[in-house]
Amino acid sequence: MPSELLQGDGIEVRRELARQGLSISPIKAARELLAIYIQVWPVDERARCVGRLGWHGGTYVLPHESVGQNSERVVFQNACGVEPAFAVAGTTIEWRDHVASLAQGNSRLQFAVSTAFAGALLGFAGEPSGGFHFTGPSSTGKTTALKVGASVWGKPEEPDPYWRSWRATTNGLESLAALHNDGLLILDEINEADPREVGEAAYLLANGQGKSRATRMGTARPSASWRLLFLSSGEESLSIFMARAGLKPTAGQEIRLAEIGADAGAGLGAFENLHGFADGAAFVSALKDAASLYHGAVGAEWLQVLVRDKAKLDTVLRDGIRQFVAEFVPKGAAGQVERVARRFGLVAVAGEIATSYKLTGWNEGESITAVGKCFVAWLDGFGGTGNREERALLAQVRSFFGANGASRFQDTSIEDQRIINRAGFFRSASDGQREYLVLPGCFRGEVCAGFDPKSAAKILRERGWLLTGSDRATQKVRLPGMVPTWVYVFGARMWEGDEA
Ligand SMILES: Nc1ncnc2c1ncn2[C@@H]1O[C@H](COP(=O)(O)OP(=O)(O)O)[C@@H](O)[C@H]1O
Ligand SMILES: [Mg+2]
Repeated sequence: MPSELLQGDGIEVRRELARQGLSISPIKAARELLAIYIQVWPVDERARCVGRLGWHGGTYVLPHESVGQNSERVVFQNACGVEPAFAVAGTTIEWRDHVASLAQGNSRLQFAVSTAFAGALLGFAGEPSGGFHFTGPSSTGKTTALKVGASVWGKPEEPDPYWRSWRATTNGLESLAALHNDGLLILDEINEADPREVGEAAYLLANGQGKSRATRMGTARPSASWRLLFLSSGEESLSIFMARAGLKPTAGQEIRLAEIGADAGAGLGAFENLHGFADGAAFVSALKDAASLYHGAVGAEWLQVLVRDKAKLDTVLRDGIRQFVAEFVPKGAAGQVERVARRFGLVAVAGEIATSYKLTGWNEGESITAVGKCFVAWLDGFGGTGNREERALLAQVRSFFGANGASRFQDTSIEDQRIINRAGFFRSASDGQREYLVLPGCFRGEVCAGFDPKSAAKILRERGWLLTGSDRATQKVRLPGMVPTWVYVFGARMWEGDEA
């Protein structure tokens, strides 16, 4: 316990001691004596207390032990209000033979496992924090992939699973980061959380730096910092989710979050190889059963390996990342692409190193292949050469009309129609297709929320999604019950192609 807790009346200290079984006299004098005793009794043995897990010099600090030889004892002092979730069941070999073996041949699963190994290597490789986000429709196996990754460090299932839900980031972001520093933070189901909070949380996590807060004296307290990988999932893309909350990522932030389509393209959702199970559902339940029985031991052993062979692994890692980049980054790609590729490379090489220590049972090179597939999926989504922001805008516009097109637009041919929360009007074009006439407030506040409306309108005109008769982005239209009004006219072009 931090000694600052002894100040005041020391109730926190007594509470903790009582929780651990000490009986304490309720008499005031006795309490005071206890506090004095603790503060003045000479101490011979010392330990350094740290507020976050992960590397402290050559020692990796876990909640209840520190891995590595250090002249100094290092102890984790949890001031977070969130409990760490490491747990062990079964042995490394059992995990390898029952869990990792099923992941084999499944790029998303091998990716998740390799990412679980990679978190502790960020510092070795000198790479910054960053995240990966699996996106895709429900019931494709996204959460299952996260659980398989989680099994490297702890329980895949409730209660107290190793993964967290996005909702938990609302208040506890810095705590979560402290508990997963130099490790992997898994966040499931982005859709359950508030877009505003998620957006900010995702960027803070990837930035590796919390917000600085004012102390009671009014001076700024230095903000917490961390280095971690996070792996998340959701039906929606993170950038669209954030754009909806009006958050505009900087270029630097953007590339710290890599989105990977969960569908592996083999007609089996997130999977490619069901290892003889009858269908995806049976495979999912086999994975969950195996991971529930066997987890966590491999993570502990991984840390032993890292502590022991740190010096040697440094070069293996750096060379491996360089090779991954050389192999997978297309010639002439932007520098941004290379930076993201380095993070994928770190994951790939982490998997290879784990394999070389017989922790996974996979074949040499398999992790690189799996992570390479995921990288290609990211690059596809990123649009290779295409402008990231433009794609995000198009996707947002399309999803706006997809969600609201039938409910929030009034038919121009009906004089008196009650529409709740009206976004605009629709009419039939000469080809019979629907045209949407969006009122300016809705255009700015919803359709292109998070984007600059002027540049958004320009992009939408170039694409032919926004129909105009002149230089203006808007057209003046007679609408039922209104004076002629300037509106944004969207045509059916927006449903064509898959560029968004
Ligand atoms: N690839 C798949 N093929 C068939 N069914 C699947 C697949 N992935 C998941 N499911 C079904 O969906 C359920 C939920 O799986 P989960 O991994 O939580 O999906 P997600 O997170 O993508 O919604 C599983 O119990 C299983 O029945
Ligand atoms: Mg899910």
